[in-house]
Amino acid sequence: MKKFGILTGGGDAPGLNAVIRAAVLAAEHQYGCEVVGIRSGFDGLLLPNGLVPLTPASVQDIHSKGGTILGAANRGNPFARLVERDGQQVVEDASGEVVTRIAELGLDALIVVGGDGTLAIARDLMQKGVNVVGVPKTIDNDVGGTEMTFGFDTALNIAVEAIDRLHTTAESHQRVMLLEVMGRDAGFIALHAGLSAGADIILIPEVPFSYSLIAEEIRSRLAGGYLDGLVVVSEGARPLDGEQVFSRAGDLLALPRLGGIAQQVAAWLEQECQVETRTTVLGHIQRGGTPTAFDRWLATRYGAAALRLAATGQYGRMVSYQQGRVTDVPLEEALGHPKRVDLQGDAVRAARDIGICLGD
Ligand code: F6P
Repeated sequence: MKKFGILTGGGDAPGLNAVIRAAVLAAEHQYGCEVVGIRSGFDGLLLPNGLVPLTPASVQDIHSKGGTILGAANRGNPFARLVERDGQQVVEDASGEVVTRIAELGLDALIVVGGDGTLAIARDLMQKGVNVVGVPKTIDNDVGGTEMTFGFDTALNIAVEAIDRLHTTAESHQRVMLLEVMGRDAGFIALHAGLSAGADIILIPEVPFSYSLIAEEIRSRLAGGYLDGLVVVSEGARPLDGEQVFSRAGDLLALPRLGGIAQQVAAWLEQECQVETRTTVLGHIQRGGTPTAFDRWLATRYGAAALRLAATGQYGRMVSYQQGRVTDVPLEEALGHPKRVDLQGDAVRAARDIGICLGD
């Protein structure tokens, strides 16, 4: 009987549990193999209690829950593991131990559910002889080789609801409301939500913005008789000739933490346009809670497809959504082309056509 490990790495995203459930059910009903859960991303392979037996009974009904029953770890990279040596914290390559552990456990392959960072670790383990199958996850929707990651649709719907709510209070108080949404390198959440909910200005990482231009946009809006405004800002947006804004510096293992750009834009607009502003940072509300029907539908199909690839020995591939179908692509190819908002694409064009300012 074949045996596969499944793990969820990086930040969580709504739909992770639906992937796990589908893989376990497909293993039981279709392929007659076993799936073992690995706790806390790759870390579970090095922890004493790092494995969780998974059965149809233990995954029953988990598809509607956010988060991941296996736990996730942002810093769990076996190629760069923080350990204490002689009272000092040092970073060590523990990938050899992980490879040995996978062999000891008799795992035929790992099903790795994650974004770019986690999938890159899977690719590196593959180069050390581990069989892997990738499943693309992130609310940012920025993994290459697929049109959609699960988690994005849920985050998008939460952001749209937030903008709708900000709209009514903006109107009541005649204020410019700013909403900072997630999106480190890609502005899909900001663009899609801003377009869907009627934002006046959308700032995304792919389009460095001009401070003077957005002030001009708000001034002309006020001059046109509109007394309120809605600005949606990706956390990763940055001004022309400026840097992204961080709330915390990075360290040996973690990227710097983004946050604060919307507040900087708000301060500038207050100063330049004599308007009252308020800033909301949507944060992890976008990542938590119940997945939408679309995300469950996609995640379930991804989980079943990943198990199919593993069970038929098609390793080194990532499941992918293209033109309404779940298919698969080489993992290496997906990682080579991270996805960004297409500035020539129809969503950006529609935004410009209907008068939304992108800050350029
Ligand atoms: O990768 C998705 C993401 O939501 C990014 O947009 C964001 O910068 C990051 O995760 C934050 O993750 P955490 O708070 O878990 O470090």
